[in-house]
Amino acid sequence: MRAGALNDDASYRQAVIDNCQIIVAEGEMKWSDIHPARDTYSFEKADTIAAFARQNSLAVRGHTLAWYGGLPAWTDGIATRREAERELTRHIETVASRYRDVIPSWDVINEPLVDAPSGAQNLRDSIWTRKLGAEYLPIALRATAAADPKVRLVLNEYDIEFTGARFAAKRRALLELIRSLRDRDVPLHAVGLQAHLFADRTIDRDGLQAFLAEIAAMKLEVLVTELDVIDFELPGPIETRDAMVAKVAKDFLEAVCEVTPPTAIVTWGLSDRYTWVPIYFTRHDGMPNRPLPLDAQLHRKPLFDVIDDIRRRFA
Ligand code: G3I
Repeated sequence: MRAGALNDDASYRQAVIDNCQIIVAEGEMKWSDIHPARDTYSFEKADTIAAFARQNSLAVRGHTLAWYGGLPAWTDGIATRREAERELTRHIETVASRYRDVIPSWDVINEPLVDAPSGAQNLRDSIWTRKLGAEYLPIALRATAAADPKVRLVLNEYDIEFTGARFAAKRRALLELIRSLRDRDVPLHAVGLQAHLFADRTIDRDGLQAFLAEIAAMKLEVLVTELDVIDFELPGPIETRDAMVAKVAKDFLEAVCEVTPPTAIVTWGLSDRYTWVPIYFTRHDGMPNRPLPLDAQLHRKPLFDVIDDIRRRFA
């Protein structure tokens, strides 16, 4: 969700209260928002979200502490390994301890792997991997656990669910990465499946379920953290489009729930009024994207019913 919309748009605010149990900041808890200069933290927008959650008895998830994206320009000036470890640890200590009583679950690690990795060593380039290599992962996870010993530590990744070599490679590399952390006793409680689904791709039911069985065998929880459906290449007619969007979400959620019912299903936004999708996936016909459970007028769409039905069936 977005703090700006919460403040400025009363009908959206009410829709969140009416339809959500868990909220997550789409950007307000990222480094760029919360830590704009090396010695400056800016908690105003994040606190707005935390206060809204408290007033309305909603849970809050934290997003995110160690990511290649959403970094403020000053982090480019981090020059040494020692400095990188100090800044990463300091940031996590400050943010995770501030929200200790508010946020029970953090996406500590976000999107660690490149697209089409050949193994767990193929981490995304960032200031963290440049200065710390793969050590940034245990550093971030341990720092979060130290700041908040009760918090659930989540590793969050996308492109896990589809048919195709690229997705199979991502699943393999992610398993390898998680195993390597477990082998070193690095604290980790859960895997977040972002689930930015492409409506024109096919869910690899067997591949996804085999992956989840391995996760479950390691006694890790699974969460769906950023569900939405990218519809930019779907046909124009809205009924057809909404049905295709709902179908891919149903295929995905059923495959997940049959193996490991997720401890949360979180969508990346609530209404088509506010979504990141057109930033990258604008439709060629100029029609607005419809990736979320409520339309831009806040009416329920078939995707809403799919999620509701899954929640009841697998509760
Ligand atoms: O709010 C400003 C607006 O005032 C300005 O006019 C406009 C011009 O570009 O930018 C607006 O900010 C944009 C913001 O989204 C709006 O919410 C930023 O440019 C844009 O970079 C930002 O993108 C966010 C993106 O992460 C990068 O941080 C998206 O909202 C957010 O949905 C997206 O979320 C990511 C998750 O963190 C990780 N997984 C993938 C997911 C989707 O890309």
